[in-house]
Amino acid sequence: MPHSRIVGTGSYLPEKIVSNKDLEATIDTSDEWIRERTGIRCRHIAADDEKTSDMAVIAARRAIEAAGIDVQEIDLIVMATTTPDKIFPSTACIVQRKLGIEGGAAFDVQAVCSGFVYGLDIAHRFIKTGGAKTVLVIGAETMSRIVDWQDRSTAVLFGDGAGAVILQASEEEGIVSTHIHSDGSLEETLHVPYGVSQGYDAVCDGRAFIVMNGNTVFRKAVSMLGAIARETLDGNNIDKKDLDWLVPHQANMRIITAAAKKFGLPMERVVVTVDTHANTSAASIPLALDIAVRDGRIKRGELMLLEAFGAGLTWASALIRY
Ligand code: COA
Repeated sequence: MPHSRIVGTGSYLPEKIVSNKDLEATIDTSDEWIRERTGIRCRHIAADDEKTSDMAVIAARRAIEAAGIDVQEIDLIVMATTTPDKIFPSTACIVQRKLGIEGGAAFDVQAVCSGFVYGLDIAHRFIKTGGAKTVLVIGAETMSRIVDWQDRSTAVLFGDGAGAVILQASEEEGIVSTHIHSDGSLEETLHVPYGVSQGYDAVCDGRAFIVMNGNTVFRKAVSMLGAIARETLDGNNIDKKDLDWLVPHQANMRIITAAAKKFGLPMERVVVTVDTHANTSAASIPLALDIAVRDGRIKRGELMLLEAFGAGLTWASALIRY
């Protein structure tokens, strides 16, 4: 059975940057409170006419270029997003059209902030079983569209962006293992409590925004990340000291620091983008990965752990020999 290996990464951030100071002008918050509680300094926000698929396509093109492949080699697109362009078709199909890809299959995955790692899990299994040879896995989000900009408890936390990888069948080891979990009993801990099947317009007047119990999410995230890290390392007989990099979901600096501490990993070995990207949901991990690959921190042959958690609740990890 072939291995599956990341052969190219790409990302995109919208041009507009909104700082904590900018938010001070519209809600009762402060730069100091946001930085202390979350580590966030600013976030990128999509332009009014910029859609999730637009950002996804730019990130995808950059990943395709880095991989040095022809776009027609892509035989599967797995797109992680919780902010699709349309109710249907899937944003993956819209990306397929915009990239001019003529064959294969494309579909979306909805696991919110864990979506990209869920997508990697699916892509990895397709490649291992011969169902696909070259998979474009994308995480892209316009979270700004589901944030209530008057709610200070959530408005300060999120941002927009996209990240992508090309995963290809290979003789060389790449993805070592993937692990995905969910616990639907925690549905209301973090959710947008409206949707199509409830008669969206009737119940919320078209205003569907994120509602969150921040304290519970925080506690659950720290314990889930600890558990999935143990599952991943123990399952592969790998000691935490063998890890070169931790690429965690970028939600809160305090959650990231707690995860790094559990590994005894110095912060220099942890990729952090939450300070300038905020939480871009499914885009956060591929964005962080691409930045650390392009600036030369993550090198070929190094071992990295990707860790995500999000609404569902969902949590996921991938151990990867880059
Ligand atoms: N600016 C200023 N004050 C704020 C604020 C803001 N943006 N948001 C909340 N506050 C206030 C609260 O009203 C509360 O005031 P009170 O003590 O007078 O009631 C106080 O700050 C403390 O609120 P609390 O919610 O206890 O703060 P916290 O230390 O738990 O931090 C979060 C809040 C949201 C930053 C933190 O819980 C968190 O990061 N949770 C995880 C969220 C997450 O990652 N979600 C996405 C998962 S994918």
